[in-house]
Amino acid sequence: SRFDEPFRPQYHFSPPSQWMNDPNGMVYFEGEYHLFYQHYPDSNVWGPMHWGHAISEDLVHWEHLPIAIAPDSLGWIFSGSAVFDETNSSGLGTPDNPPLVAIYTYHDPVGAEAGREDFQTQGIAYSTDRGRNWTKYTGNPVLKNPGIRDFRDPKVSRIGDRWIMSLAVKDRIRFYSSGNLLDWTYESDFQPEWAAYGGVWECPDLFTLTTPEGEEKWILFVSINPGGPNGGSATQYFVGDFDGTTFTSESDQVKWLDYGADNYAGVTWSNVPESDGRRLFIGWMSNWAYANVVPTENWRSANTLPRALQLIREGETYLIRSRPVAELEKLRKSASTKEGDSWDIEAELAELLLFPEAGDFRLELGNQAGEKVLLAKKGDQLTFDRSQSGISGFSEAFPALHTAPLNGMEVNELRVFLDRSSVEVFVNQGALVLSEIVFPEQPYSQARLTGFKRNHRVYELTGIW
Ligand code: FRU
Repeated sequence: SRFDEPFRPQYHFSPPSQWMNDPNGMVYFEGEYHLFYQHYPDSNVWGPMHWGHAISEDLVHWEHLPIAIAPDSLGWIFSGSAVFDETNSSGLGTPDNPPLVAIYTYHDPVGAEAGREDFQTQGIAYSTDRGRNWTKYTGNPVLKNPGIRDFRDPKVSRIGDRWIMSLAVKDRIRFYSSGNLLDWTYESDFQPEWAAYGGVWECPDLFTLTTPEGEEKWILFVSINPGGPNGGSATQYFVGDFDGTTFTSESDQVKWLDYGADNYAGVTWSNVPESDGRRLFIGWMSNWAYANVVPTENWRSANTLPRALQLIREGETYLIRSRPVAELEKLRKSASTKEGDSWDIEAELAELLLFPEAGDFRLELGNQAGEKVLLAKKGDQLTFDRSQSGISGFSEAFPALHTAPLNGMEVNELRVFLDRSSVEVFVNQGALVLSEIVFPEQPYSQARLTGFKRNHRVYELTGIW
């Protein structure tokens, strides 16, 4: 039946069929979380990009809607963002019915093929019917290309009385400002010499989080491909200040949002009500090192679980903690307590809550076929080994041992989410996260643990489709 193919995630978002990459245009509006995504509806590999579309009232259950934005004479529709233009600053709606505005990259494949440098520009589309129909602005592109090959992924935020666009420009983030979303003025470049530059910079996001002491900090996300800490694509972030013009990082340490191999191009929802107060995130749960060749047929790729981001203090610096949104607890169908060091998980879709003792530990999740993943703490390092996780011969980059530094952090809680083809590990309430995809022939049904306290909690989860 629908959404029941081998490896099809049962409680993660995935496209109805064919190819998906980055989440795009996430905006909350009138009770609905909108999620758009890079989509090629004619094939299960990357190609001419469209914006696929889905909505949710709870971030957990998704309704697929028709494709929102399709390629036109200016090019394919690459990644970008969406905002609620409450004051109708763009004039694209009316004061009584202000528009949702999507800002995205046009990628002109003809210009690219011809060897031009200026084939990526920014365009906009708008909706005045709660995101159901999208009309392209006739004055597109709204931001032309100055002659730089990588010039994309606009993320627009309302800051004070202006719109600020963060744009990925090859090896830097470039900020532009606008009063009306149509005319954009250059503000500044962010390109600190100590940041990670192992690949091209993509998919920025600029927003605030509050420290535990109540101080507001500015956060800048930058996805990079390749050059991630465990190979391929990953997301680095900066904590600092944005003065309306310029972003400054307050420390010169490279920080990674997720140490798993499979959380890329993630950004946050705009227009979430202040009464909610959360900064909500979702990422693409794959990696450019192998995304096009993973062993699924009529659909490819899923998103991470939605997460709420918070700032925590670790020693001298601030880190982002990512916690699964509380709405996910609705998926819990039954709960059981397991004793000892070896037990059956008994649920294909499961959430495990485990409490390590101080010191080193090992957690092996495996099946009857001998396929398994191994999460271990050794000294000051956490490792995730998926070299024997299941089907893995599709790419040399896939069957690897991934490592994450603990930087002195004691591990006292692990929350692990198992879906058909993913393992997400949240350490200490999301202070460290590993999101990993896997392709076992059967579900991991056996847990073997060393170095844990006695009582383990297992929740059986229900699917969302
Ligand atoms: C990131 C990315 C973006 C681009 C999109 C194209 O994964 O490369 O920079 O807009 O994917 O699909």
